[in-house]
Order: sequence, then C-alpha cells, then structure tokens
Amino acid sequence: MTTPTAPLSQDELKTLVGQAALQYVVPGEIVGVGTGSTVNKFIDALASMKDQIKGAVSSSVASTERLKALGIPVFDANEVNALAVYIDGADEIDGQGHMVKGGGAALTREKIVAALAKQFVCIADASKLVDVLGHFPLPVEVIPMAAGQIARRFEAMGATAALRLKDGQPLVTDNGQHILDVHGLTITAPLAFESEVNQWPGVVTVGVFAHQKAHVCLLGTATGVKTIAY
Ligand code: 5RP
Repeated sequence: MTTPTAPLSQDELKTLVGQAALQYVVPGEIVGVGTGSTVNKFIDALASMKDQIKGAVSSSVASTERLKALGIPVFDANEVNALAVYIDGADEIDGQGHMVKGGGAALTREKIVAALAKQFVCIADASKLVDVLGHFPLPVEVIPMAAGQIARRFEAMGATAALRLKDGQPLVTDNGQHILDVHGLTITAPLAFESEVNQWPGVVTVGVFAHQKAHVCLLGTATGVKTIAY
C-alpha cells in the first residue's frame, strides 16, 4: 500500500516554479528579474548559476538587495538595450497571458524592465490563474496629488479605490509615488482597459499587463509545473 503524499503547499509550488524558470535564463547574458515572494524563490535558485550569467536588471529595491546579497551583479536598466528574458510573478493571469501585477508595489519598474525583454516568463502558483482579471484588487501607481480624482474615475466605473497604507501612512513606492488598490472591477477587455487608464492624468502605471503580457507561464500545480505558452 502506498502512503498518500500531502499536497504541495503554496510556498513549495513557488519554489518549484522559481527553480523551473532557470531553464529560460540565457548563459552569458543579463536576466530581467521581477519582484515578490515567487521571484524571491527564483533569485535564490539563480544563485546556483550566478557564474554563468553577467548579472541582472532588477525591478525593485527589494529584489536588488536580494540579488546583491547572493553575489549577483545588478545593472541599471539604462545600461542595457535589450534582455533575452524577464522573469516575474503575477497576482492574476488569464488564459491569454494578460496579468494583474503590483501586489508588491513594484509595477512601474516591472513594466519598464519587462519592456526591455524579448520574452516575459511568468512564474505563479495555480491560485493565480483566473478566467477574468479583476478579482484581485488592481494596483495603480499614482502621483499623490491626483489620487482623489483617479479614485473618483474608478468609482464612476462602479469600483472602489483605496490608498494603500503601510504602518498607517500612505505606502511610498520605490519611485516616491502612491498606490491605489481598486476593488470591484471585472476586466473583460484588458488591452483597452490598460490603454484607457494609462492616459488618465496622474496615473504612473496601471497594474494590468496586457500590452506586455506573458509569453510563457510556468504554473505550479498539484501535479507539477505546467508550461503554458501564449
Ligand atoms: C509585485 C508583483 C508580484 O509579481 C505579484 O504581487 C506576485 O507576488 P507573489 O509572488 O509574492 O505572489 O507584481 O509588484
């Protein structure tokens, strides 16, 4: 009789996909690195091949610190013209590879580094896969003086927007701005939605990644890592 094995925890699934992403890292090149608990697993795994890469371009102060602590050189985004691959997590990913990101408040730099990359590899546990984006509160980085009017625009859409707080004060991003978390959206047309919100005055970055969707998702499931190409 075989002993039933316990299902993998969410943390173990994150470790699995973080390790699986190593196969997309191109030896001799600089890799784009995202932000978050799943990416932290990737960064830890990347340390095992640090002698085979030139280094990384990072999407946040937190990832930069982790990379440097492991001895991985970090380049400024302005030092590179292109990256072969950008590896990052997501708060939600749909069946076309469109994502909601920014749960870690790093969405602006994530979009900037992703825009340098030929390929976006999303690493996520199965809880992130959705039919329609919007259940996870949508992060929007905003210039503080515009937060009120941007919140009212979302309210006119039937949603509610809350300023993200840290220790009772507005959270300040790596770029010195604030984050609105927007509840109650159903984003059925992610490309159009991203384009529209992006042009509202005071919006720095909307956390819908549709114009820069994933090319591949490494999804951690109960039966192992599933590779989904879009
Ligand atoms: C940070 C992000 C992250 O990729 C997203 O929040 C997922 O994080 P985690 O891997 O911790 O679930 O967009 O801004």
